[in-house]
Amino acid sequence: MIITVTDDHEKLVELFNRNGLEFHNDPPIEKSTIVKCWKVMLGEQLIAGCILTNREGSYNLEGLAVEPAYRNSTIGSRLLELALNYLKEQKADNLYLLGKVPEFYKKHGFEIINRSESPITYDCFKCPQYKIDCFPEAMKINF
Ligand SMILES: CC(C)(COP(=O)(O)OP(=O)(O)OC[C@H]1O[C@@H](n2cnc3c(N)ncnc32)[C@H](O)[C@@H]1OP(=O)(O)O)[C@@H](O)C(=O)NCCC(=O)NCCS
Repeated sequence: MIITVTDDHEKLVELFNRNGLEFHNDPPIEKSTIVKCWKVMLGEQLIAGCILTNREGSYNLEGLAVEPAYRNSTIGSRLLELALNYLKEQKADNLYLLGKVPEFYKKHGFEIINRSESPITYDCFKCPQYKIDCFPEAMKINF
């Protein structure tokens, strides 16, 4: 298993869609907002990845997913910590995200915030599934 930086964010969006992150309902990620993407390969297979963006001056964890067969073996945590360490090196103040699994992010120091406190507009809140069978939370970590 190798974690590397990648420019191929479209492959990561496919991974996110396969893993229930519903990127197909959103406008495509604007390339100019992408700060860094990481992918995890097992041989030729993409098994996990994450995308970090900066939207209107605020860092956002745009997506993070691990294929089901490879979950619960720390890959998600390692990717998230890579992104956090990268932002600390950049002297970032904080990182926002919209989390479908808030408990996972809380373990890494994120707190739930009121969505009105987030500088980032998430289209997800307009989705018909929002708070029906999907309960994402706006979250933030300060560095
Ligand atoms: C969330 C996700 C990235 C975690 O990746 P992972 O590699 O399985 O996570 P790790 O092995 O590093 O960490 C597992 C820990 O997170 C917790 N966790 C993972 N998914 C969880 C969930 N859905 N609800 C609550 N806790 C969860 C586990 O209980 C475990 O806790 P422990 O370390 O105390 O035992 C992965 O489950 C995934 O891709 N899910 C589908 C896509 C998704 O929802 N991504 C997040 C979108 S915001």
